[in-house]
Amino acid sequence: MKLQRVLQYAQTLLMHSIEKGEVAVDGTAGNGHDTLFLSQLVGEAGHVYAFDVQQQAVEATLDHLAEHNATNATVLLDGHENVAKHVHGEVAGAIFNLGYLPGADHSIVTKGNTTIMAIEQLLQLLKVGGIIVLVVYHGHAGGKEERDEVLRYVSSLPQKFVHVLRYEFINQQNNPPFIVALEKVKPFQPVK
Ligand SMILES: C[S@@+](CC[C@H](N)C(=O)[O-])C[C@H]1O[C@@H](n2cnc3c(N)ncnc32)[C@H](O)[C@@H]1O
Repeated sequence: MKLQRVLQYAQTLLMHSIEKGEVAVDGTAGNGHDTLFLSQLVGEAGHVYAFDVQQQAVEATLDHLAEHNATNATVLLDGHENVAKHVHGEVAGAIFNLGYLPGADHSIVTKGNTTIMAIEQLLQLLKVGGIIVLVVYHGHAGGKEERDEVLRYVSSLPQKFVHVLRYEFINQQNNPPFIVALEKVKPFQPVK
């Protein structure tokens, strides 16, 4: 048996929680790879909302979607901490690739406080059985702080309402990314 690599496992989790016709969120659009993946999962009857704070990322994502004739996504130049302003219905799944956009300004990175704000809002919007997947990159400046803040927050979520998984290869060098996945098991009020 071959253990699934981190990015592959992130897709497996999403595949099992998102169905055609549903709504999904890409919290960090970047070059649009995950946005396209989600758009294929939800199909023509579904919709994807993708967020990024960089115009360059929004344009790259729109181009990537257009190259694949994907018309079921809205790409927003806004932070994921504002997800509840834009998305109102039930969400089936979400993904965040934390860190910086490869090939762009490495000082524009996701931050613990805004990542947590987005998770809090998505936990409200998420269907029961829905999944939020975080791919945690932590080798860059500010990465460890974000990792620790996010881990502290997700570890404190009550298990009656949310199941939190960490999937990680623990003998790899150079701060390999790992996954944190949150499955909503019951509607709940967040604790802070
Ligand atoms: C690792 S990259 C994402 C890669 C992307 N998933 C892909 O498939 O190419 C992280 C992205 O998060 C974006 N970002 C940083 N802070 C953000 C925020 N508050 N809200 C949304 N996106 C943010 C960065 O601009 C960057 O494009």
